[in-house]
Amino acid sequence: MARSPHDARTVVRAHSGRLAGMTTLRATPVAALAGTLRVPTDKSITHRALLLAAVSDRTVTIAVPLDSADTGATLSAVEACRVPVEGHLGERVVVTGVGLRGLRPSPAIDCMNAGTLMRLLPGLLVGSRADHVILDGDDSLRRRPMGRIATPLRRMGAAMFTSPGGLPPLVISGSRPLRAMRHDLDVASAQVKSCILLAGLFAEGETWVSEPVRSRDHTERMLTSAGVTVMSADGAVGVTGPVAGLALPDLEVPGDFSSAAFHMVAGALLGDPEVRLTGVNLNPLRTGLLPVMRRMGVDIEVIEGPDVAGEPAGAIVVRRTDALEATEVTPEEVPAMIDELPLIGLLAARARGTTRVRGAQELRVKESDRIVAVVRALRGMGVRAEELPDGFAVTGGSSIPGGRMDAGHDHRFAMLGAVAGLASRDGVSVAGFEAAAVSYPHFAADLRTLGAGV
Ligand code: S3P
Repeated sequence: MARSPHDARTVVRAHSGRLAGMTTLRATPVAALAGTLRVPTDKSITHRALLLAAVSDRTVTIAVPLDSADTGATLSAVEACRVPVEGHLGERVVVTGVGLRGLRPSPAIDCMNAGTLMRLLPGLLVGSRADHVILDGDDSLRRRPMGRIATPLRRMGAAMFTSPGGLPPLVISGSRPLRAMRHDLDVASAQVKSCILLAGLFAEGETWVSEPVRSRDHTERMLTSAGVTVMSADGAVGVTGPVAGLALPDLEVPGDFSSAAFHMVAGALLGDPEVRLTGVNLNPLRTGLLPVMRRMGVDIEVIEGPDVAGEPAGAIVVRRTDALEATEVTPEEVPAMIDELPLIGLLAARARGTTRVRGAQELRVKESDRIVAVVRALRGMGVRAEELPDGFAVTGGSSIPGGRMDAGHDHRFAMLGAVAGLASRDGVSVAGFEAAAVSYPHFAADLRTLGAGV
C-alpha cells in the first residue's frame, strides 16, 4: 500500500547512539499565540482501532487514523500478521478483518517506540494459532516493564516469555487454552487492563480486571461497539469468553487530548485573545488536566459536541492567564492525566508558589524517566525544580529564563521544550526535536499557525 511520509518505515528511528536526522528546534519567545487548530487524531484510539479491526469479522474503514511513527508501527504490525490493509494513515485505512483467531504473525514484529502496541498485541496473539512470535522495539521500549502483562497472561495459561528483568524482547505462542480469572492490578494501567481483557475474549468464563484508580476506557468502549458485553462492578471491568467474533463498525478517530494539551498550556501562557482546539476527544478518564489547570487559575472553556467513535468530543478554548497559582496533584488524579503531568511542571514554572505532583512513580517507566526528564528540562531553562521519589516539585517565578534541553528520544519532551521556549524570556533550544513525530509530526507547523516563530 502507499504510505505517507510519516509512517513507520520512513520516520527516523531514534535508536540511542545511532540517531539519524537529529534536529534541534529553536523556540524563540513570542508575545501572543492565537487561532484555531484541529489537533492530530488520538494515538490510543488509533492503536486500538487498527488492532480490533484486524481481528474483526468484517472489513472496517477507519477515518483519519493518526499518522505518526507510533501508529505506523501498529499498522505495520497488523500487516505483519497477514491482515490485508489499504489506504493511508491520516486519511482512511480499510482493514479486512481476519477474525479473532485469524492472525498469522511473522516470526518477528518490531514495535519501534510503541508501548501500547507491545502491551496490547500479546493479548490477541495468545488467542491466535501463532507458533513463536518475537516482539521487540527500540532502545527506549526495551527498557519498559513487560512483566506486568507477561505475569497475568501466564496466570491465564499463555505461553509468554520476557527477557531477563521482565523486559523486551517478548516471545509469545498461541494455541493454548486460556483460563478466565480476576486480576487486581497494583498500578492503574490502560495498557495492561486492555491486554488482559483482549486475552479474556479467548478464555472460558469471566475475566475481570480491577485497578486502584480507573484508567482510560477506550478498549472497553470499542469492544462494546464491536458487540462484546463489557461488564463492570465495583470499579472492575470484565468480559465473558470465549467470544465468537467481533464486528467493529466503521469509525472516525477523534482528536487527541494529549496532543491538544501542549496547545492548552501554550494558550494558558500566551493565548491572546484565545487558542481554540476543535474535534478533541473528551473522554473523562483522559481529561484530568482540565480541573488541575482550572485550579491553577487558567481560563478554559469546554464546548461539548457530538460523540465521535462512541467517545465524547468537542472544542477547548484557552486564554492567557497572568496570575497562575501553584497546586498539589494527588495520586488519585494521576491516571487521568498521566501523559500530561510534565506539562503541569511547565505551568508551575510560571505559577505563584510551589507545585507538587505525588503518586506519579509510573512516570519513571514511560518513554523516558519522566520525573528525571521534567526536572532536568526545567532546570536547564533556569526554573527551580526538584525530584521526589514519586513525582516532582516546581517553584514558579515571574518568568521562565530559557536555555537548552534534550528531548531524550521522548516525543512529549520535544513538544514541551518548544512550548517552554515560546513562553520564555530568552528562548529554548530543543535537541532531538524529531522525536515529536512519534505522536505529532506536524507539531512545529501547528505552532506556527498560532503565530509562533519556530
Ligand atoms: C496508553 C496508556 C497509558 C499512557 C500511554 C497510552 C494507552 O499508559 O501513558 O501513553 O493507549 O492505553 P499506561 O497504561 O502504562 O498507564
